[in-house]
Amino acid sequence: MLLFSSSSSRKETQRTRAREREMEAMPEEKAEFEEAEIKYVSYGGEHHLPLIMNLVDQELSEPYSIFTYRYFVYLWPQLSFLAFHKGKCVGTVVCKMGEHRNTFRGYIAMLVVIKPYRGRGIATELVTRSIRMMMESGCEEVTLEAEVTNKGALALYGRLGFIRAKRLFHYYLNGVDAFRLKLLFPPPPRQELSPSLDT
Ligand SMILES: CC(C)(COP(=O)(O)OP(=O)(O)OC[C@H]1O[C@@H](n2cnc3c(N)ncnc32)[C@H](O)[C@@H]1OP(=O)(O)O)[C@@H](O)C(=O)NCCC(=O)NCCS
Repeated sequence: MLLFSSSSSRKETQRTRAREREMEAMPEEKAEFEEAEIKYVSYGGEHHLPLIMNLVDQELSEPYSIFTYRYFVYLWPQLSFLAFHKGKCVGTVVCKMGEHRNTFRGYIAMLVVIKPYRGRGIATELVTRSIRMMMESGCEEVTLEAEVTNKGALALYGRLGFIRAKRLFHYYLNGVDAFRLKLLFPPPPRQELSPSLDT
């Protein structure tokens, strides 16, 4: 009986592994939607917090406590955005800004879009909204860290004009290195000379 049950459980394990491999090989299920159906809103209060936490906890390797989330969204609610499709939260970006070594800079802390909604520009729209707010608030630059292995994020930020400023060794708890990415805003246009001086 013992022999039988162990060999049958071995077979069951093999079947489960085969099913798992099959699932991995299957293309990701993509959501059907028009881009205009995605609604973007800035952080609107405590009811948004579990939605943000749920997405970030699912998709980012780094564990964050509720105090970290609250630090960002309470102090800079205007810099965090959520994307909704038919009432379902499908993406979010969480940011902050402040003085740093004589510059006023923005920082992108978290960015996530759930798998079925990826590849349709949602992350780009979320990040662009935050960056625009930072720019309007007087930031001179924006920074963030991304895992050196995160091809998707590195490609996305590269397209937006971010450069790799630094490599941070073993930056994450999982031991992976990070790139510090930086976007420098162009300086404001020089003031035109006033006509009285222009002679
Ligand atoms: C990274 C992430 C936010 C991108 O979301 P998204 O909505 O699919 O991104 P977008 O559709 O706006 O992509 C814009 C561009 O980024 C690049 N890009 C995004 N994902 C990519 C991928 N997996 N591989 C290569 N390039 C990718 C492409 O250049 C893409 O433009 P294209 O579709 O015209 O080629 C999403 O994959 C995600 O949530 N990943 C897990 C969490 C994460 O890694 N967050 C970033 C932490 S720094």
